[in-house]
Amino acid sequence: MFEIENFDIKLNTDFIGRNFIYVEEIDSTNTFLLDRKNGINISGTVVLAEKQTKGRGRKDRVWYSSKEQNLTFSILLSKEYKLFDHLNLINFSASLAVANSIENLYQLRTELKWPNDVLINKKKTCGILLESSSQGNKVDRVVVGIGVNVNQSMFQGQFNYPPTSIRMELGREVEREKLLAEILNNFEFYLEKILKEPNYITREWKEKCRMIGEKIYVKEGETIKNGIFDDIDEEGFLLLKTKTGIEKITIGDVSIV
Ligand code: BTN
Repeated sequence: MFEIENFDIKLNTDFIGRNFIYVEEIDSTNTFLLDRKNGINISGTVVLAEKQTKGRGRKDRVWYSSKEQNLTFSILLSKEYKLFDHLNLINFSASLAVANSIENLYQLRTELKWPNDVLINKKKTCGILLESSSQGNKVDRVVVGIGVNVNQSMFQGQFNYPPTSIRMELGREVEREKLLAEILNNFEFYLEKILKEPNYITREWKEKCRMIGEKIYVKEGETIKNGIFDDIDEEGFLLLKTKTGIEKITIGDVSIV
């Protein structure tokens, strides 16, 4: 059971999470917030679901999460239009918010994997799916979907990357209410930096990404590109050093060679 009062008391934001919707079961919190017909328009709205029947990951993958064990939620941004030119930095803000919350609350060392996975001990504990909708050619709605493996104690099945949970790494259960509030507090902090001090975000992100300088390959569909993870640019795209020069990567799964 998620105790909303325990979450609310620790929430320290101006707008993120101030409109909070808690549901037992839903198809996908992202699908719900993206669909205007559901009538949710308040920016900063957070939808938290105890169970998703069609939880989605990047590249049409399925996001599996045991009922009532983890955090599966989405955040709606519906009026911060200036931020919508910097979708990668919103992605980075979300992954930094999760990583720093885990480090601050549980003293576990985290690592970021481009574009936005959060790892503990090289295993994935959080995935982020940012989606947007447009009117004409202008983005007018952004949904940041976050799945954190919190108290799940085992994972079955085939995974693109080995999964873990905070509980498995820490050796004890953790309080989801406190963690969610901390993530949202941090997320709002980073969002405010996007326009004022974007370098702050890319700098922190790079410090936490231990793959920079490593030989990697980037897989996108059937295409595999090899090279050295040279850097990320100011908008958060990966710069891959290949035999022919520096190539900007906008999408793909990164693995160490
Ligand atoms: C990934 O790593 O592929 C991204 C996973 C994102 C999962 C979250 S859970 C809450 C939100 N609702 C969804 O359907 N997906 C995101």
